[in-house]
Amino acid sequence: MTELGRERKIVVSKDGPYLVSGDVPLALQVITPNSEGMSWEWKEGKTFDAKPGYALCRCGHSKSAPFCDGSHTKVGFDGRETASRVPYARQAETLDGPTLVLSDAENLCAFARFCDPGGKIWSLMERTDEPEVRELVIREAMHCPAGRLVIHDKKTHKETEQPLPASIGVVEDPALGCSGPLWVRGGIPIESANGKRYEVRNRVTLCRCGASDNKPFCNGSHASMKFQDGLKK
Ligand code: SF4
Ligand code: FES
Repeated sequence: MTELGRERKIVVSKDGPYLVSGDVPLALQVITPNSEGMSWEWKEGKTFDAKPGYALCRCGHSKSAPFCDGSHTKVGFDGRETASRVPYARQAETLDGPTLVLSDAENLCAFARFCDPGGKIWSLMERTDEPEVRELVIREAMHCPAGRLVIHDKKTHKETEQPLPASIGVVEDPALGCSGPLWVRGGIPIESANGKRYEVRNRVTLCRCGASDNKPFCNGSHASMKFQDGLKK
């Protein structure tokens, strides 16, 4: 194996798949609701035996999902990358609460809805001096797969982020009746088709339905088009 093959990274190929190298574990990640029907837990499903490197579909048409089967050429996939290069901290708006600060970059939302329980994270912010509300807010932000939501402690100015193990989740959303994005965890570098790297982050979601207009990132379009990857869940 070449040195390049060993390096842990994801390359967005031009109008083609994501090329993953460096033994990155791959498994289904299922959005699982609580008794009120709201997104609450991530449940890990089937793992894919895909090491050391693999190509993941990003046009949404592969019959061998989550892997690429070459369909992007047949459907004339336009995979142009349109996402901003501005670092997250400069894209995000902030919302102050008594003990926490919420950063929010709305264009990154993958519509996984972990921010809904308890009356939505934005309204909970003003009650973060209540310990259980503070805990719920931190939990909700950390369950946000897209990294749209990030929490800082107001006193220490430190992120409450817990580093996730480097891995990729193939998201399924049975409550909504659709398949979702690729959940990239643990700061795996993502390289554009032109060789430039995106900001390295603990949590991001990559589009695999082909419909996002913020490529390579997911913008929730899979939910409105009810994207189906054909995998048995
Ligand atoms: S991706 Fe994040 S911000 Fe969007 S709905 Fe889910 S939890 Fe909320
Ligand atoms: S997978 Fe979410 S927009 Fe394509």
